[in-house]
Amino acid sequence: MNIQINSKLPNTGTTIFSIMSALANKHQAINLSQGFPNYDSGDQLFELVTKHMREGKNQYAPMPGHLKLREQIAQKYHHLYGEQYDPTSDIVVTAGATQAIFTAITAFIRANDEAIIIEPAYDCYRPAIELNDGVAVPYELEAPHYEIDWDRFKRLINFRTKLIIVNTPQNPSTNVFTDADWDQLAKLTHNTDIIILSDEVYEHIVFDGVKHASILRHPDLKHRSIATYSFGKTFHNTGWKLGYCMGPPALMKEFKKVHQFNVFSVNTPMQYALADFIEDKSTYENLSSFYQAKRDRFTQALEGSRFKMIPSGGTYFQLADYSEISGLKDTEFAKQLTIEHGVAAIPVSVFYSSGRQDKVIRFCFAKTDDLLDKATERLLKI
Ligand SMILES: Cc1ncc(COP(=O)(O)O)c(C=O)c1O
Repeated sequence: MNIQINSKLPNTGTTIFSIMSALANKHQAINLSQGFPNYDSGDQLFELVTKHMREGKNQYAPMPGHLKLREQIAQKYHHLYGEQYDPTSDIVVTAGATQAIFTAITAFIRANDEAIIIEPAYDCYRPAIELNDGVAVPYELEAPHYEIDWDRFKRLINFRTKLIIVNTPQNPSTNVFTDADWDQLAKLTHNTDIIILSDEVYEHIVFDGVKHASILRHPDLKHRSIATYSFGKTFHNTGWKLGYCMGPPALMKEFKKVHQFNVFSVNTPMQYALADFIEDKSTYENLSSFYQAKRDRFTQALEGSRFKMIPSGGTYFQLADYSEISGLKDTEFAKQLTIEHGVAAIPVSVFYSSGRQDKVIRFCFAKTDDLLDKATERLLKI
């Protein structure tokens, strides 16, 4: 007998990341689709994890995370952005940024509340809003500049708006919010209780001398904002699924009420290891230059190609306009690229609720140089 299920997410299928990675494996293509590196964090961190496991740090961590790790996160934030957050009340260690985002949305979104998302948007925001019976209201950025027109943005804000989700540096557009952008958002939401959720997982990957502008240091926004971060993105270990969430005590109090029942706490030995590891600031301070070299290697090699590179301001992604090569929809073009040319990429239309077609695909350049060179060799032949 078939069971009848009234799906809570009727329009959600398998994510494009799984689909493209499976296609890349099937055709033995170079996988520049999903956002993960093909290198790892190195022996020092592995040895620290092993040490803490051997020393018996294998039982539940405290609900908000290992205290030393929270203290180190607070110090890191102060060092980078000059603002003091209290490790005992304002920081929670999470199972990656994904859990932090889900938990934050669940803590603040009620039925029929509206949450504005900026598209092309990372794909976990909308389902989390909808699982809480909220309404995702997309603001569409347009290729190739992906800039916000704040007058157009303003029209989306109304009395039902509860949350605005910003992602800076943004996946996939690679755009970076400036203080002027935060000022605009502060002005538009002045005297409201609208909460800003700032997804800052790529905070350490910002290019061309630009500094990451974290929301939690903005004088008019920090009292009603929370920010999410990912150790996986920073230390090349996305599979460890460790991240954290920060914000003012009133918001984090609500965040913790949900966190303690959807995960309670996250794995202990890796928290101990990371707490030791990030004492050394060089573990994260050189990341922008590391990735900028990869971006430049990838884009310079493709200068003579028929792809048009859209400048990447941050993240480890590079957008490319393929309109000179093909009139196919980007989903079809990405499949063709994988099957016939041996390079997998992500079609950008999947990051839009409307499926907007700008004939742009996304490459991930968090790969060793030999793999990037092999990929560019193939792409140059098209
Ligand atoms: C913008 C953005 N937010 C959140 C995440 C998820 O981070 P984590 O792997 O720490 O859950 C990703 C991963 O690709 C991302 O690109």
